[in-house]
Amino acid sequence: MSRVPLPYNPKILELFRNPKNLGKMKDATVTALAGSPACGDMIALYLKVSDDEVIEKVMFESYGCAANIATASITTELVKGKTMEKAWKVTWKVVADEVGGLPKIKYHCGILSVGALRRAIREFYKMKAKKPSWLPETLTLEEKHALEEEELAKVLSRKLKLAKSVKK
Ligand code: FES
Repeated sequence: MSRVPLPYNPKILELFRNPKNLGKMKDATVTALAGSPACGDMIALYLKVSDDEVIEKVMFESYGCAANIATASITTELVKGKTMEKAWKVTWKVVADEVGGLPKIKYHCGILSVGALRRAIREFYKMKAKKPSWLPETLTLEEKHALEEEELAKVLSRKLKLAKSVKK
């Protein structure tokens, strides 16, 4: 059976081949993970934050698909040099527009990137024991999506283990 190639636009393909800010950051102020290694869709996001809450440096590692790498890369570009408050306002739709649009079945890749970013921002304020007025109490769509994906990965891995044990 042959696979139909996804209609990725040239910007996604370019960012996939030459992602910006890719790699581990050793001196990160805060790190967040979103997704699960069990299904391969996972992002690690690293932020270096200054005393006046500006993102000085941002890097990511991705274990997902081309759209995952491209959207994570563009997310880092969008928040670099921004205050934490402005970075919080970057939604998955902003990210999707910035990469020139995503195929529908790849929306979740962009949502996951922003989920990781928002987790990192929340973690930063948790570490500082601060609650800025602009930070919502409830989880946003992007954060909920990351949680759902992690739950799904757990269920799948349990089913896989069960199927393997039945085969034995
Ligand atoms: S990260 Fe899941 S398909 Fe792209």
